[in-house]
Amino acid sequence: MSLTILAIESSCDETSASVCVDGKILSNFIANQSVHEKYGGVVPELASRAHMQNIVPVVDTALSAAGLQLSAVDAIAFTQSPGLIGSLLVGTQFAKSLALALNKPLIAVHHMQAHVLANLIPDERPAFPFLCLTVSGGHTQIVLCKSPTELRVIGETIDDAAGEAFDKSAKLLGLPYPGGPLIDKYAATGDPKRFKFPEPQIPGLDFSFSGLKTSILYFLKNAGTTNIYKEEFLADEASQKKFIEENIHDICASIQDRIISILLNKLKKAAAETGITHLCLAGGVSANSGLRKAFTELGEKMHWKTYIPAFQYCTDNAAMIAITAYYKYQAGQFAAMDTVPSARAEW
Ligand code: KG4
Ligand code: ZN
Repeated sequence: MSLTILAIESSCDETSASVCVDGKILSNFIANQSVHEKYGGVVPELASRAHMQNIVPVVDTALSAAGLQLSAVDAIAFTQSPGLIGSLLVGTQFAKSLALALNKPLIAVHHMQAHVLANLIPDERPAFPFLCLTVSGGHTQIVLCKSPTELRVIGETIDDAAGEAFDKSAKLLGLPYPGGPLIDKYAATGDPKRFKFPEPQIPGLDFSFSGLKTSILYFLKNAGTTNIYKEEFLADEASQKKFIEENIHDICASIQDRIISILLNKLKKAAAETGITHLCLAGGVSANSGLRKAFTELGEKMHWKTYIPAFQYCTDNAAMIAITAYYKYQAGQFAAMDTVPSARAEW
């Protein structure tokens, strides 16, 4: 008997729905919310309203792209946590209503587990146990994955996430939100070794990015002369602007290079400590072309087998919710009708 799952993702500013049959993704439709662009970040109230407007057409589109009707669906999955509470509420209420109306089981999915399991979407998959470096706008984690339903965070950021490091650096450079993809674009033709930013010394497998942000801030305020804060180093605004304009490619390449080395040095340490040789990337920042290339090259050098989800499964999407729900269904992990969303959720 085949198993058809309809999944909904609405944790932040993307409204997405996906249909998955027997672990194969048939459709994955994503509506982006451009309404936040002029505010330089996601405005929670506007995100919830846009989800409410988008959710019916998004689900309809995902179903028709899969060539299926609602009556063919065997289970409804949704992102329960973590995320913006108003955004999560829209997806949760919609999924619960559908499950109730269709009299089908409900599956609650953890967004971070789903980012990791995006690696199980293609036919060529990592073998268990594998390690996953999950890098998104809100999280930076090294996850040890023993099975689709047994995951443990063995390292994470103690302050900013890698995506925040990209976005905040972009903001300092005067680039629009979200700045990660733009840094990636400028970095492609820049010299990554031109400017040196410090690598934090954090014990164990944890990460820190707040020091990097401070060092970039003073570097730009000093028009590239030093990373140190001292009144006498501060350049006037016109010189700061000119320095950025003339060096944007090299600055972006150097920032990206440091973020990548912070991430991959910890991943290398995690692989050495656990002896695990199947390694994955996940999350929005894994769309970064420099990280994808450096990760693949490191894998070749270390004799790892490396896996990276396709672009459309790196940033927020419902296909990763659907694949996670597929495994949760098989493990009998269903949600009760009184399930509520949670902005933060422990693993
Ligand atoms: O996973 P995601 O879509 O949403 C969260 O769950 O947070 O990740 C969004 C993050 C943003 O910080 C965005 O700037 C970053 O992923 N991002 C990138 C790239 N594409 C998206 N960062 C660097 N390079 C990219 N190409
Ligand atoms: Zn995400």
